[in-house]
This record gives sequence, structure tokens and C-alpha cells, in this order.
Amino acid sequence: MSELESVDELAPIDVSATRARVAAHLVGRERELELTLAAVAAGRDIVLEGPPGTSKTTMLKAITEEWGIPLLFVEGNADLTPAKLVGHHNPARVLREDYNADNFVAGPLVEAMREGGFLYIEEFNRAPEDTLNTLLTAMADRAIAIPRVGTVIAKPTFRVIASMNPYDNVGTTRLSTSVHDRLNRLSVDYQDAAAEEGIVRLRTGASGPLADRLIPDAVAVTRMTREHQDVRQGSSVRGAIDCVLVGLQLAVLRGIDDPTDERYPELVYDAMILSLSGRIHLDESVELTPEAVLREIWEDHFILLPAAADPG
Ligand SMILES: Nc1ncnc2c1ncn2[C@@H]1O[C@H](COP(=O)(O)OP(=O)(O)O)[C@@H](O)[C@H]1O
Ligand SMILES: [Mg+2]
Repeated sequence: MSELESVDELAPIDVSATRARVAAHLVGRERELELTLAAVAAGRDIVLEGPPGTSKTTMLKAITEEWGIPLLFVEGNADLTPAKLVGHHNPARVLREDYNADNFVAGPLVEAMREGGFLYIEEFNRAPEDTLNTLLTAMADRAIAIPRVGTVIAKPTFRVIASMNPYDNVGTTRLSTSVHDRLNRLSVDYQDAAAEEGIVRLRTGASGPLADRLIPDAVAVTRMTREHQDVRQGSSVRGAIDCVLVGLQLAVLRGIDDPTDERYPELVYDAMILSLSGRIHLDESVELTPEAVLREIWEDHFILLPAAADPG
């Protein structure tokens, strides 16, 4: 099965219509969606390189749902052996029946190939070398030979999508040029503040005067964790989402329903501790605690910035 064949079979897909329908599920990300779609519609595999929370999974889910194909997740780490990726024979059944195609339990790679799904390997660069080689072969041949099972030929919509976090300690330079040479690549960065506010509003469903202040505040302090000098990697938009959800519950517990309440800034601080302290990764050389860093950010936002301190 040649790679060209899969391109031919995909040609009838109306990629413009796909884009329009997928975009309806996303806040922003027009460029990233267009480029990712172009790659997968062209029959190519791609690595998305970007920190967590930058819409990678959301985009892939929307595309695969639109095409009606499965999205299979795999986390790249030292335990991801070729057998885990490809599959294994059920040992109890092998004892009874010996090896056969029936007692083979497909791993995510084989499942994705059989069903024509996207295999999404997060933290791709952390997978062991021999696992990557297995994957490269499947990508190049669009088929895989499995002992005692036979050859599995990938359906035309099978794709490998990899992701990498540029802040990862395990550098991307680890990957050999033969890996890079087989993948397209798109760097995805954080969204701007307005888009992040839109995402937080969508995902929390929060509204009303308190939410109208809490959402921009949560997004602002979350973004500040990414700029702080002592932080290696700040929080993703997931931190801002949780900050709003937790903050709204704290407001109920404390009987605060108005953002001009003098207790509001402290409420945000407490919500920040819960939602952000575990999501910021400090530089190894730094003696500060995450709480101390968050206190600095909170002070910068609420005390040094008069507009935030006094919404009137
Ligand atoms: N463009 C977007 N539109 C709507 N929601 C989004 C968007 N980007 C991210 N989100 C939301 O933010 C969270 C993290 O996004 P996700 O796509 O899982 O990030 P990643 O896969 O890059 O780590 C999810 O709750 C997701 O629903
Ligand atoms: Mg993800």
C-alpha cells in the first residue's frame, strides 16, 4: 500500500467545509486549524509542538468527530514499549489455544490503523527509541506485519499526530533526524488574553457580574505565571478555568456576590492557590515556594495595578 493511494482516497473530503464546521467548536485558532487540516487532509503525519493547554487535543477531537473517525490517545513515556503500542497476545488464551490472530489484543497503533483513526501520541519525545522505530515503519508503509497475526493495512484516514512540549526537560534534540524527516511540524503557542477569556467563559459557563470580573482576573494572573522570572513553565488555560470555578464556589461559601466586595481580592488569592500552585514549575535554582510566587503575582495585579484594584 503506497502513501499516494491514501491521498487519492481522501481527495473527496471537502476540506473547506470541514474547516468551517470544526471552527464552530473552537474559540479562535483559525491559523492552527487551517494548517493542521491542510497537513492531515494531505495524508501527512504531523507533530504539534507547544505547551499544554494550547488547543491541541481540542482541535484533533473536533476534526476526528467531524470525519467520524476515532482519536486514540497514547502517552509517550519510558513505559511505552513497542508491544504496548502494537498489541499483545492474551497470555491465558495462548496457553489454552496457542498463538492465533483471535487472541491478539490490538494496541492503539493497530486499532488506529484498522479503524482509520488518528493516533495521538502526547509527549512523543519521551517514548523509547525502539517504539519510535516501530511507529516510523507503520507511518512509512501504512501497514504493519505482526507475527502470528498477519499484516494490518491502515485505512486511508489513519494518521499519526505527535505532540511535544517545548518546555520539557527531555529535549526534542533527542529525536533522530530520521524521525523529524518523516513528520510535518507546527509550533502552537498560547492564545492571546481575549481568546483565553473566551475559552474560560465557554468551559465554565459562568456569567453574571462576579464572573465578568473573575474571568479576566483569572486569565490575567494565569498569564502572569508564564512571564514570572522564577517560573520555568507557567500554568495553562486549565489553571484559569479552575480558578474561576473554585472562585465561584468560594464566593458562595463566603456570601460574596458582588465583585466590588472588599473581600474579593482575597477570594481570588485563595482561588489562585488552589488552581495554580500545582501548575507552575519553578526554576530548579529558585528557593521560593509556588505560594510566594503567586503572592507576588497577586500583589502586582491587585495592588500595583490600580484599575484591577478599583473596578469603579
Ligand atoms: N480553542 C479552544 N476553544 C475552546 N476550548 C478550548 C480551546 N483551546 C483549549 N480549550 C479548552 O482548554 C482546555 C485545554 O485544551 P486542550 O485542547 O486539551 O489543550 P492541549 O491538548 O493543547 O493540552 C480544555 O478544557 C479545552 O476544552
Ligand atoms: Mg492535550
